[in-house]
Amino acid sequence: MIVTIDGPAGAGKSTTARKVAERLSFQFLDTGAMYRAVTWLCLDRGIDLQNQELVAAAAQSATFEFQGGQVFVNGRDVTSEIRMSTVTNESRHIAANNAVRAFLIELQRQLAGTANVVTEGRDQGTIAFPQAECKFFLTASPQQRAIRRQKDLARNGEHVALEEILNQQTGRDQRDETREFGALKPAPDAILIDTSDREFEQVVTEIEGIVRSRMLGK
Ligand code: DC
Repeated sequence: MIVTIDGPAGAGKSTTARKVAERLSFQFLDTGAMYRAVTWLCLDRGIDLQNQELVAAAAQSATFEFQGGQVFVNGRDVTSEIRMSTVTNESRHIAANNAVRAFLIELQRQLAGTANVVTEGRDQGTIAFPQAECKFFLTASPQQRAIRRQKDLARNGEHVALEEILNQQTGRDQRDETREFGALKPAPDAILIDTSDREFEQVVTEIEGIVRSRMLGK
């Protein structure tokens, strides 16, 4: 079974999806980490992120490994580095690169294989796994999402003003929603969940319950 959890940054996808996967003993795919890993690779190599061919070639010739929450690019552990705000901000160029998107979608399908998977991102229910049995789209108010992002950054040692995060977030939402290929939008058969005023635990339990009942064919 494939469970897709899409939505904007800060809607709580990662935390929720990881926990749902754990409770169901499903594999977990963090597809945002893949776009971040390609961004990190290009920044590390000094590749112009807007040069679509060079970026795609770099991505295709690198090795990416995702093991229990850790991310490796060409064998190097980049788990914390890919969460830095430079990577977050620059990832928009990678997300807009159609060749990279096609490559990463293929990688996502390969990694999912025939296993039971919870996968989170922007286009998992629409493009990567349109046949998924269970699709969710998480949202939250812009303010809540920015507060969550601020806390995440602080955990990583970066202290950024809320105003600045809100501004960047608005820009990111616009780009995510209007991208030519793989735009952020709910699949027509996705269940929408607003996480603004809810505890993650509650959301996790709701999603877990829906998946379990679908598994039983209810
Ligand atoms: O969810 P995140 O913040 O880790 O995502 C990082 C970047 O990757 C962000 O620019 C959105 C992009 N992304 C995407 O375009 N498609 C996905 N399936 C996942 C992430």
